[in-house]
This record gives sequence, structure tokens and C-alpha cells, in this order.
Amino acid sequence: MPAQLTSEPTVQDQFRRDVLDGLRAKPKHLPSKYFYDRQGSVLFDRICELPEYYPTRAELAIMRQHAEEMAHCIGSHGMIIELGSGSSIKIGLLLRHVPRPTCYVPIDISGEHLQEAADRIARKFTDVEVCPLHADFSGEIKLPEVVTSVERRVVYFPGSTIGNFRPAAARDLLTRIATMVGPGGGLLIGFDLVKRRDILERAYDDAQQVTAAFNKNLLRRINRELDGDFRLAEFSHRAIYNATHDRIEMHLVSDSNQTVSIGDAQVGFSSGESICTELSHKYRIESFNQLAAQAGFSVGRVWTDSDNHFAVAYYSIEE
Ligand SMILES: C[S@@+](CC[C@H](N)C(=O)[O-])C[C@H]1O[C@@H](n2cnc3c(N)ncnc32)[C@H](O)[C@@H]1O
Repeated sequence: MPAQLTSEPTVQDQFRRDVLDGLRAKPKHLPSKYFYDRQGSVLFDRICELPEYYPTRAELAIMRQHAEEMAHCIGSHGMIIELGSGSSIKIGLLLRHVPRPTCYVPIDISGEHLQEAADRIARKFTDVEVCPLHADFSGEIKLPEVVTSVERRVVYFPGSTIGNFRPAAARDLLTRIATMVGPGGGLLIGFDLVKRRDILERAYDDAQQVTAAFNKNLLRRINRELDGDFRLAEFSHRAIYNATHDRIEMHLVSDSNQTVSIGDAQVGFSSGESICTELSHKYRIESFNQLAAQAGFSVGRVWTDSDNHFAVAYYSIEE
């Protein structure tokens, strides 16, 4: 067979490029999607169980209370495409009620975690066709061929992952979702609401320091996969609420003047200089409805938890 001639960057090349671009920028930043190697996914699941991390509890409460109504919006003959499906916990609540036939396409960047979660769902719901897709949803998504006869596509996007995008990028992603589901399709999405600073900052800086470990795991991943030499003890985790932009900003702050090697490249840090590793935007219901409308969706229903901490909304594209 002739040698393959290709200029397509591998996932690893792209990771290296994104890391070096981000660390050479001013201010320094890293894309949050790289948190999710195997260990990052396990740490995120632990975050979801922390007493301070209200979003998962609030969203699960909304799903438990309103899953039947949401399932009715989806209807039978639906393809449910879940973006950033993680451990696929919330979809279980929905699949109990979704009329059959239906099929489920979980999409996640964290491959092994995705496969294990998809296997669990397939064992639990034997009458649902489950087709996991290991992909980066910020790039082009090629949906798998399915056996189920599909009349409607619905994207399920829980976990306030949309908040990790700046509003303009969030609108672009919602627009791509609108194109993916097409006329008659829908979007069931969970987003976090603006609330008191102390509640927000605690949620991203817990007493057990699981979020700190999750944040620093990104440096560990760079060391392992890109031949880096970050000294994790020389960086501190910070989570700050930026009220101007209604967002939590997660940072790793250098505790000293230091130089870090990543393969052949060198990156200098001054003491106190930070790398922004994640943005988590908080919304008001009206502003999120507006964003969805700009992407081409009509508002269907919005559900919130009893504390008004979190919202799940169903939007659709007119036929
Ligand atoms: C905040 S977690 C939410 C997990 C789960 N949906 C929940 O509600 O608990 C974000 C999830 O999206 C995945 N993810 C993040 N960026 C991604 C990307 N660009 N493409 C695909 N998956 C991504 C992560 O691996 C992780 O499972």
C-alpha cells in the first residue's frame, strides 16, 4: 500500500498547536475542551456530586419533575443527539418517557468515558438504538447512519456546557445546531442562571479542592501528552465571578517567576500571571431566549428549579 500523503493535523498536533497558541497569547488561556481526558472526565463526575456544585442537582431536579413533558416535545421517531454527553446520567431520566421508536446519539470528546456511558444506556434501554460518536462538537459533525426510522432530530445539550462559549460563539454553535436538526427539529438545553456571587464562586472552588484538581489535571495532561514539565505545585486554582460579563472565570495562577518547557518550546510565567482555563457564562432566561431566537429557534417551554438557579428550555425550528 502506498504511504498515506495527508496534511490533515492529527488530534495530538491540534492539541499542541492550541496549547502553544494559548500560552503565547496575552492574557494566556487554554481551551476548556482539553480538560476531558479520562481522568478529567472522572474528576468532573466527582464535581457533580459536591455539595457546592448546585448545577447538576438543580438540573436533575428539573429533569425528574418535567421529563414526561420534555419527552412529549420530542415525540416518537426522534433521533436524540446529545452534545457533551459525559456519563449520560440525565438522558436516562428522559428515555424512560420518550415514545418509541427512538435512537440516541451521544457525542463526546472523551472517548473511553463515552463508550462506557453508551454501553450502560444500551443495557438499560434495550429498545433504544444507541450510536455513540467520539467527536469534537466544535468541528463538523457527521451523524451516524441509524436503523431507526427518524422523523425528527432533537439535540439534547445539558450541563450548561453552552456557558463555556462566549455569547457570540454560543450563538454560532446554536446556529449550527439549528442547521443540524433542520425544520421540525428541536433543542433541549440546560443553562445556568445569574445568581449571587458567593454561591457561584463556591461552586467552582469547593472545600475538598476537587475543582482545583480538575483544573490542574489540564497541566498534567500537557506534561504527559505533549512532553511538558509543568510543576503543578507552582500553580494555584482560582475561580472569580466577573459580574460585567456574567461569567465565572477559572484560572491557574503561577506562584513564581518560572519557565515551562512543552516539547522544544519554552513558555515564561511571571509570578501572579494566570492562564484562563474556562469561562462559564450565566444567563437570564430572556437573554438566552434571545440568543436561541437569533440562531433561528422558536421558544417552546422553559423550566426552572425551585431556587431559580438553573433552567432547561425546549426550542424548535418551524417546519
Ligand atoms: C460540563 S460537562 C457536562 C457533562 C454532562 N452533559 C452533564 O450534564 O453532566 C461537558 C462535557 O462535554 C464534553 N465536551 C466538552 N467540550 C467538548 C467538545 N468540544 N466536543 C465534544 N465534547 C465536549 C466533555 O467531555 C464533558 O463530558
